[in-house]
Amino acid sequence: MVVSATQMQKQAEFKDKVALVTGGSSGIGLATARLLATRGAATVICGRGEDRLDRAVGELGNLGSPVLGIPCDVGKTDQVDNLFTEIRSSFGRLDICVCNAGIETDEAYSILDLPAAVFDENIETNLRGVFLTSQGAARMMKEQGGGAIVLIGSTSGIMADPLLPSPTYDASKAGVHMFAKSLALALAPHGIRVNAVAPGWIDTEMNKSTVENPDRLRTWMEKIPLSRFGRPEEVAEVIVFLSGDKSSYMTGAVVVVDGGEILG
Ligand SMILES: NC(=O)c1ccc[n+]([C@@H]2O[C@H](COP(=O)([O-])OP(=O)(O)OC[C@H]3O[C@@H](n4cnc5c(N)ncnc54)[C@H](OP(=O)(O)O)[C@@H]3O)[C@@H](O)[C@H]2O)c1
Repeated sequence: MVVSATQMQKQAEFKDKVALVTGGSSGIGLATARLLATRGAATVICGRGEDRLDRAVGELGNLGSPVLGIPCDVGKTDQVDNLFTEIRSSFGRLDICVCNAGIETDEAYSILDLPAAVFDENIETNLRGVFLTSQGAARMMKEQGGGAIVLIGSTSGIMADPLLPSPTYDASKAGVHMFAKSLALALAPHGIRVNAVAPGWIDTEMNKSTVENPDRLRTWMEKIPLSRFGRPEEVAEVIVFLSGDKSSYMTGAVVVVDGGEILG
């Protein structure tokens, strides 16, 4: 195989770096892990479903960088502790942490009927999970003298959507954006940069029901100036940019990737 100079530069970009992508077994997380592994990072992914995780590890393992899948629910302290113990024992360092794992299980309910348990499960994954995993990452990065953390928020954390009110999810993602800013201030003295990415509508498992419903899809398309959903790879490129030295003067930013949806 002939490898071009550009390909070699890309493969070298994250050589000797270790990256964690939570929720790396699907959608935006898997696309991000793919890009990091292609560009040379030893890549750890986690998720709850072990079959999905194994399939993703099988695919990523062909990209030429070390890949490790660790089953973990990011909302559970003991499982997150185990995640970082495994990363330490396998790689001894962590340079990049993408806190991507997220769920949206409240949209089927009116707020008047929303069970508190559904509120709790969304907050546990989307906010507590981000807290636990970024804290674990920051502890390792502080020892090394630096690192990059990227939190995945959402345009739902910026703008409430009249077509699909989802107060719990929206609040969790607004929390993620503010957490990124505050964490950026707290961790800057340790050389750790923290940024957030706020995707709009991206074609993943999370939006399967919308993508498969032509009427619903048409309604959403009218709201997006670029007239299409985004692809996971288009978000992954921004996440990977924020994970590397090319964004070395960025911290505390919330970068929107939404085809212009929140403009109008
Ligand atoms: N798709 C969009 O339009 C969109 C828009 C804005 C923001 N986002 C955000 O982008 C992130 C990725 O979403 P996606 O669209 O790529 O969804 P996805 O395809 O459903 O992937 C979600 C990933 O997170 C994992 N996950 C969920 N809960 C978890 C938990 N408690 N612990 C560990 N892993 C967990 C899932 O694996 P398991 O289920 O096996 O655990 C899966 O790997 C989420 O934070 C989401 O809120 C997505």
